[in-house]
Amino acid sequence: MEQLQNDLFLRACKKQPVERTPIWIMRQAGRYLPEYRAVRANNDFLTMCKTPELAAEVTIQPVDLIGVDAAIIFSDILVIPEAMGMHLEMFDGKGPVFDHPIRTEKDAENLKQITAQENLKYVLDAISLTKKELSGRVPLIGFSGAPWTLLTYMVEGHGSKTFSNVKKLIYNNPELAHKILNKLTNAVADYLSAQIEAGANAVQIFDTWAGMLSPRDYLVFALKYVNQVISKIKRNDEPIIYFPKGVHYRMRTTADCGADVIGIDWTIDLAKARDKIGNKVAIQGNLDPTVLYAEPGFIRREAKKVLQSYGEGNGHIFNLGHGILPDIKPEHAKALVDFVKEDSQAFHDNDVSTKVIKI
Ligand code: CP3
Repeated sequence: MEQLQNDLFLRACKKQPVERTPIWIMRQAGRYLPEYRAVRANNDFLTMCKTPELAAEVTIQPVDLIGVDAAIIFSDILVIPEAMGMHLEMFDGKGPVFDHPIRTEKDAENLKQITAQENLKYVLDAISLTKKELSGRVPLIGFSGAPWTLLTYMVEGHGSKTFSNVKKLIYNNPELAHKILNKLTNAVADYLSAQIEAGANAVQIFDTWAGMLSPRDYLVFALKYVNQVISKIKRNDEPIIYFPKGVHYRMRTTADCGADVIGIDWTIDLAKARDKIGNKVAIQGNLDPTVLYAEPGFIRREAKKVLQSYGEGNGHIFNLGHGILPDIKPEHAKALVDFVKEDSQAFHDNDVSTKVIKI
């Protein structure tokens, strides 16, 4: 067994006792850090993803600079469609673009069947190298996009406000949508298992666009496939986190998906989410990312409200409700981490004598 110097995050995922609430930040390896921008200035985004030394370097930056309790491997959810043969470009200010989106049977047939060992080996190498360089300081999180969120990018070709093309596909040709979703489900499950084998201590499934679906369609096009991914990789002991952004309307059903942790955005109170989810799974979240624009005093008060909303007891992992924004001051991210480390102790049972009495 690997010896970790800080395993608070892993214990919280399993709802085991912790001395304080662990914190990490979605998109913590990113442009708000000048040290990230310095590496990025000399390398394009995909080159960084595909060069294990660079990926490891920026993965570890927030551990050193911000003090988070877990690292997340630097990569992107879109490496799966890229490995399937879609040409991906990352434009500053515009985000990722696929110049030939998938819209027809023929397009779908052209998607390559992939395995992580053959087609995404560079991510596995980046994980192994990062683990080595972290030398047990904090756990490393691997990740993938969920089948539904990957499908949205593959069909739209880029981000969207209305998701018209992918909605056209699921309503006019659901068979084709399900065919691609099945293909993606196999690729995602294989990819996450391989990341765990390469050394990831936990994995997160990002379903950023789950909330674009109606409550019923969410079950049919998103959750069903996440259930399948999780049941395929569940033999592993490593915690699985599912983050379906915008899905406060299906908390109870979502909690049954087999994940150890449900990530939630800031549009639902943690108390309410905890009430609905019950004691089944741990919860990750959910400070509004824009709170980090405010002064440290305000950030501290808002972070406290999040801790209070979850309340006492185990099973909370502090995070933002979505990724950190590129124009946030790094000092503010660091202040948040420090506040959570300090203020969360009161929500856990740290008194050895009371622990003894309880036994
Ligand atoms: O969390 C981490 O620090 C690990 C790295 C990570 C990135 N992308 C790096 C990245 C993770 C976990 C992701 C996930 C991801 N990528 C998601 C799901 C999470 C979410 O935020 O909803 C999505 C939808 C993507 C797709 C994607 N990649 C978009 C929409 C963009 C552009 C948006 C933007 O912020 O500009 C990217 C690019 C991207 N991925 C960057 C980083 C650091 C910025 C690229 C750059 O450096 O120029």
